[in-house]
Amino acid sequence: AALRPVDAPLAGRHVLVTSGPTHEPIDPVRYIANRSSGAQGAAIGAALLRLGARVTFVTGPASAAPPEGATVVAVETAAEMLAAVEAALPADAAIFAAAVADWRVETAQARKIKKQAGALPGLSLAENPDILARVAGMAVGRPGLVVGFAAETDDVIAHATAKRARKGCDWIVANDVSPETGIMGGTENAVTLITEDGAETWPRMAKRAVAERLADRLAAALAAKDG
Ligand code: CTP
Ligand code: CA
Repeated sequence: AALRPVDAPLAGRHVLVTSGPTHEPIDPVRYIANRSSGAQGAAIGAALLRLGARVTFVTGPASAAPPEGATVVAVETAAEMLAAVEAALPADAAIFAAAVADWRVETAQARKIKKQAGALPGLSLAENPDILARVAGMAVGRPGLVVGFAAETDDVIAHATAKRARKGCDWIVANDVSPETGIMGGTENAVTLITEDGAETWPRMAKRAVAERLADRLAAALAAKDG
């Protein structure tokens, strides 16, 4: 394998990052969404770039600016995000930090739905594709390291450990996003990294610091895999 300078341990590596929420249209003026600023995903993209990686950053409509120097692919819906992710592969590693809407409206209306007294629109929902599970389950061309996130409000480690097994990813970065933590929309994060070796809880720190630690770990894991 290529020799990599110590300050650029990800030189020559391609890393895919998903970030931000997705928006699922109901009609031209309304949508279903998730609460996500995209701050943690953007910080991860920036940390990977600082380590010398080539980064493809697939982002939903986020308030955080995408990392400078990444190849940015802006999408709106989960279906578009899946297509953008598939188009961006192959990658040496993929980090799924996006808050993807679990459901879309089965048939988005082309015209604005008008409010009618006493009548509710009765939206019928369809399940969105699970982008992380799709990529983690690829028989051919699976990235060497697949990392998911698990934003939980209860039994964080138990839910995240089950999620890692269910989705077939290598690592899960779990966090407690209960409103009282202030993590959603804030500048800090408190995460537990779940790997094949178990759960490792990191102290609460800036999202930028979480991103740097994760990028360092990813570089070490890729180096251990194939030098
Ligand atoms: N994810 C994804 N595509 C989806 C849903 C989730 O790629 N349609 C990814 C997220 O980016 C994250 C991980 O899967 O990395 C976990 O997302 P989460 O919403 O916590 O998991 P779900 O399986 O949707 O379970 P639930 O929302 O019920 O907790
Ligand atoms: Ca979900």
